[in-house]
Amino acid sequence: MSDTLFARACRREPVERTPIWIMRQAGRYLPEYRALRAKADFLTCCHTPELACEITLQPVQRLDVDAAILFSDILVPLPAMGVEVTFNPGPHLARPVRSAGDVAALRVPDAREATPFVLEAIRLVRCALPQTVPLIGFAGAPFTMATYLVEGGGSKHFDAIKGLLFSDPPTAHALLARCGETVASLLAEQVRAGAQAAMLFDTWAGLLGPADYRAFALPYVRRVFDRVTEVAAELGLDVPRIYYAGNAGGWLPACRDTGATVVGLDWRMDLEPARAQLGPELAVQGNLDPAVLLGTPALIRQRARAVLDQAGPIGHVFNLGHGILPQTPPDHARVLVDAVRECSSRRVA
Ligand code: CP3
Repeated sequence: MSDTLFARACRREPVERTPIWIMRQAGRYLPEYRALRAKADFLTCCHTPELACEITLQPVQRLDVDAAILFSDILVPLPAMGVEVTFNPGPHLARPVRSAGDVAALRVPDAREATPFVLEAIRLVRCALPQTVPLIGFAGAPFTMATYLVEGGGSKHFDAIKGLLFSDPPTAHALLARCGETVASLLAEQVRAGAQAAMLFDTWAGLLGPADYRAFALPYVRRVFDRVTEVAAELGLDVPRIYYAGNAGGWLPACRDTGATVVGLDWRMDLEPARAQLGPELAVQGNLDPAVLLGTPALIRQRARAVLDQAGPIGHVFNLGHGILPQTPPDHARVLVDAVRECSSRRVA
């Protein structure tokens, strides 16, 4: 793994071309995924290692991407914390967490007992993947997990989570600490099971201003990545730590203190100024607008080139800025992969 294109790009080493994978690359835009989902519901797919393995491999086979990401979900650890969740297709919690008592009742599970199916899926995928394609393990960042726990699902104004932060900060911190511990165990155990990179999705951190980001999000991300670093050192491995900074605002420079080695960005910001704020030590991942894949192949090629030009040849992993849209024609995803490959190798040659 230490020599894959993806690993070298994450380490900011020279590469012959820019690696690419696609957020939500295993999902509803793929007919082979929909065929499988006609027989098994989403959570059954997540809970059955053989199915999760098969779905993880689908986009690798069809698109020839440079990394696989485990098929699972950031909310998979919730039942083991004591919170039931259903998907239709978005998540819904029957009993959101609102009070200090609710927070105190949350369990902090060890991933080996709570989500053994995730770890088994990783072992199966590792056996099935070619050596040249690394497997990314992932979890939700503590603040984003806390947002779902408090809001109970998607939300328009996020008044429940923001209300908790500002009306009862000690309870908010107790909740974030529990999410952080749960996620640290999950991500560290994924590395032990064979995941070759560890990614945290902070989809909702963009709700926070810089000072609140530093208070409520950053310290908990740091703790999770510290745990990943410890386990990787114990195993003698170099494991890239990827932090998806959703809708990053004025707190982008604070990502330097998360312990991440790669920062994933959405399309609201160009990569060149983002890099200037992140400093020379971090690699970047992103950041094509997923809706571009609804355009023509010519537009997709043109926009892919623009992202590559912004990013430069070193320390860039190409990706979308958020998950691929379900209505995306699969052929357009392939056009993107081929365009990134062609454009970035021409640049190096
Ligand atoms: O291919 C991959 O990227 C791996 C699998 C993956 C899923 N969810 C599968 C999924 C990953 C990495 C996630 C992360 C995830 N889940 C995030 C962070 C990234 C982001 O999108 O911001 C979030 C916020 C969630 C929570 C979640 N799960 C939502 C909001 C939804 C509904 C989204 C939708 O596409 O409608 C889910 C369900 C979900 N997770 C699906 C998939 C393939 C669709 C379920 C189905 O097949 O019916």
